[in-house]
Amino acid sequence: MPEKVTISDIELLLSEPAHVDMQWVGNDDLINQLKAAWMVVDKDDLPLNPRILGKPGIGKTTLAYAAGKRLGKDVYMFQCTMDTRPEDLLISPVIASDNKIVYIASSLVSAMVKGGVCLLDEGNRMSEKSWASLASLMDKRRYVESIIAGVRIYAHPEFRLCITMNADSSTYEIPEYIMSRLNPRILIEFPNKIDELKILKYNLPFASEEILEYCANFLQNAHKHDDYTVRDGINILRYYIKSRLLIKENQDIIEKSTLENAIIQILEEAALKYLPGNYEEFLKKQSESISFKVFRDLDEVNDYYDKFVKKNDKDSHG
Ligand SMILES: Nc1ncnc2c1ncn2[C@@H]1O[C@H](COP(=O)(O)OP(=O)(O)O)[C@@H](O)[C@H]1O
Ligand SMILES: [Mg+2]
Repeated sequence: MPEKVTISDIELLLSEPAHVDMQWVGNDDLINQLKAAWMVVDKDDLPLNPRILGKPGIGKTTLAYAAGKRLGKDVYMFQCTMDTRPEDLLISPVIASDNKIVYIASSLVSAMVKGGVCLLDEGNRMSEKSWASLASLMDKRRYVESIIAGVRIYAHPEFRLCITMNADSSTYEIPEYIMSRLNPRILIEFPNKIDELKILKYNLPFASEEILEYCANFLQNAHKHDDYTVRDGINILRYYIKSRLLIKENQDIIEKSTLENAIIQILEEAALKYLPGNYEEFLKKQSESISFKVFRDLDEVNDYYDKFVKKNDKDSHG
């Protein structure tokens, strides 16, 4: 049975926190950035509402969940979409079997009541109207107002909030008064080779060293040119292992054509150039090809001159 709480004579049914096996592997500095943002250093201090940014599949959701768990807190996740309405974020009325109205608290409000962490996942998809209903939560007031239930709900002192955003796929323009409340920005960048290998190994403990290493090299090459992330690597190896086992072949060694198929089906043919072996060839071809720069107008020529020619001139003359 869901837990019930009564606030200003209104009975609310709380949502459950998420329970998943998601740990953060590698760069602990990012965990510490989140922990610092959430810290409260004085009775007059307030926690910040960090905004985690990065490409899809780079580990934003994992970071937020794992950081909350490392602080020993329950983590409530709310998936934001372009259809999310203010009442979805706060309290929704439903008709119970005896025709009575029952109020269901969202994961955000449940985290506020219980003092957990709420992760607003993919917040960039949500409209201004929905964000506006959270403005009071993200400043000194620390409360939300549900028009539907007619109650004001104050956040527990232990409540913490964070937002993940894909920097490049916003559905709506989020207004400045909201953006300024979603700080600091925590940017996740591609992991280095050692960390990427660790992440692959953590997510695929049944994969051999040989295929993990090969995949890490593939991803490291790709990171220099493309947006493919460790999630793509994990999916490629998962599919590769399944495809090999289905035909009762050894899944621990690299069989190039099966792996290439997995890459084409999960990414695209153009990604094959990052495979160890192909990549060196690709770099050689790239350096051999002559590049032309076509200028649009004189301004662009001057701009280019200032940026590159003059700069190089200065650099070489100290
Ligand atoms: N540092 C990390 N530690 C553990 N797993 C990670 C890490 N970074 C990425 N992953 C894995 O990569 C996948 C994508 O991560 P996710 O958090 O869903 O990305 P995002 O939210 O940025 O789209 C998940 O399977 C996750 O387990
Ligand atoms: Mg995510």
